[in-house]
Parts: sequence; structure tokens; C-alpha cells
Amino acid sequence: MGKIIGRTVLVVGASSGIGAEVARRLAPGGNRLVVVARRAPELASVAETVRAAGGTCLDIAADALDPGAAADVVASAVTTYGSVDIALLNAGQGPDMAMDDVSTDDVARIMALNYDVVVNYLVPLIEQMKKQPHGGLIAHTNSLAGLMGIPRQGPYSAAKAAARTLIDAARVELAPQGIRFTTIHPGFVATDRVGADGLPKPFQISQERAARYVIRALEKEPANSYFPWTTATLVRALRILPAPLSSLVLRAMAAR
Ligand SMILES: NC(=O)c1ccc[n+]([C@@H]2O[C@H](COP(=O)([O-])OP(=O)(O)OC[C@H]3O[C@@H](n4cnc5c(N)ncnc54)[C@H](OP(=O)(O)O)[C@@H]3O)[C@@H](O)[C@H]2O)c1
Repeated sequence: MGKIIGRTVLVVGASSGIGAEVARRLAPGGNRLVVVARRAPELASVAETVRAAGGTCLDIAADALDPGAAADVVASAVTTYGSVDIALLNAGQGPDMAMDDVSTDDVARIMALNYDVVVNYLVPLIEQMKKQPHGGLIAHTNSLAGLMGIPRQGPYSAAKAAARTLIDAARVELAPQGIRFTTIHPGFVATDRVGADGLPKPFQISQERAARYVIRALEKEPANSYFPWTTATLVRALRILPAPLSSLVLRAMAAR
């Protein structure tokens, strides 16, 4: 059994991939899960698995692009379980998108899918956690792509970078009120949806391994968590190399 015990945990983006795996793994230990995504049947199946493993689970089909729906989810979690101790904001999507083949609408859509979805939960969660004597933890599944502009993922990199900096500011401002923030930066993870996008994925790890890293971050609450170490080291090296050199490496990596 892990170290997260008897807590109310909200996972936004829990119908598949990393979020579903995290929810399933937090089921033991008397945790109360609130799982959210748009696809109700997939979500119901995750909720069933959580209940079968001994956890309590509320599943809510809601679109994180809708600020009213996000506020309602937080309110429902509080009505049902009394508080939100941990929130994992995991909804996001990073399709292959080359800059010579995008529309302004494409870029705006990716910004909404990876930045607005965070803001829409951040605001009601902060409001709620300010009232809780113990504060709370808000974690965001960002990406190593949020640390630099990755070719063919430019709009996604930009949206994740925006979420990272917003959370950096919130972390400093809200520490005195007991609200903690953890930004989680996975490298490539073999989830169903990213499997078919045709992008090269060096050092890709399994969804199960990624969920273990995410849960460790929820337990230890670092400001930032980076994994796996191979991709994290590669990104760190690319960020300190002179631009012509890093561009060469990135161009080679992005080639089909
Ligand atoms: N896989 C990777 O290589 C990788 C690497 C770095 C970071 N990440 C990040 O990890 C997170 C999870 O991705 P994943 O790979 O596990 O993919 P995934 O299986 O597609 O998971 C994304 C989850 O977010 C939900 N979601 C998406 N848009 C939503 C919306 N508007 N409202 C509510 N829920 C929404 C999806 O459910 P519904 O479609 O049912 O709504 C799904 O449950 C994402 O933030 C992604 O950017 C992934």
C-alpha cells in the first residue's frame, strides 16, 4: 500500500492513459476518488475498477473546457466527501502539429486543451482549498515538452509552458495558505492515444511506470518532478547547448 491513505483525490482526465492508471493505483488505502473526463463509459469502467479494489469513487462526466462544469465538479466532490485533499489536473493532448501546416484555430485549440483546462480547475480548487484548514495539493501533468519548444509539438509545448509558469506563481503566492503545487513533467509514455500519432518517442516508458512516478510525486510534493531520467537529462542538455547545436539534434529527432 502507498503513502496516500484516507484522502479525497480528484483526478481530472481519468478515463484513459496515465490518469486512469493513477486512479486505479490509489484505490487501496481507503482513498475517496473523484474521477472526471468527457467519455462517460470509459470513466465508469475506471470507477468500477477502483470500487472493486476497495476504494470509494465518484465518477463525473464533464468537459474541462467548460469553467462552470469544472466549478460544479469541485463543488460535487466537496458535497460528497467534504474536501479535496489532492487534485491531479491531468487532462491534455499533444498531437503532431508542424508549424508550416497549422491554422490559428489549431493553435488556439491546443492552448485551450492544455492551458484553459488547467485554469478552469485551478480557480475553484484554490477557492476551496483556501477554506480547508490543511490546504491541499494541486498537481498538474505537464510534460518535458513544456520546458522547451519541441518540433512538431510547438503549440503543445507553448501551452504546457504557460501552465507551468502560472503554477510557479501560484505556488509562491499560496504557500502561506497551505496550498501546495507540483508540476509533473513526463517524457514519452506509451498510452493508447499517443501511440498512433507517428512522432518519434525516444526513451518511451509504459503507462504503469509513468503512474508510479506520478504517485511518487503526489506523495513527496516536489515543486517539479521530471521522468524518466534519460529523457529529462536529454532535455536539460538540449537547453544548455548553443541554439545551432540543439536545433541540429532536435531536427534529427523530429525527422520521420
Ligand atoms: N503520453 C505521453 O507521452 C505524455 C507525455 C507527457 C505528458 N503527457 C500528458 O499526460 C496527460 C495524460 O495524457 P495520456 O497520455 O494519458 O493521454 P490520454 O489517455 O488521452 O489521457 C488524457 C485524459 O484527459 C481527458 N481529457 C482530455 N481533454 C479533456 C477535457 N476537455 N475535459 C475533460 N477531460 C479531458 C481524457 O478523457 P476524455 O477524452 O474522456 O475526456 C483522458 O482521460 C496529458 O496532460 C498529456 O499532455 C503525456
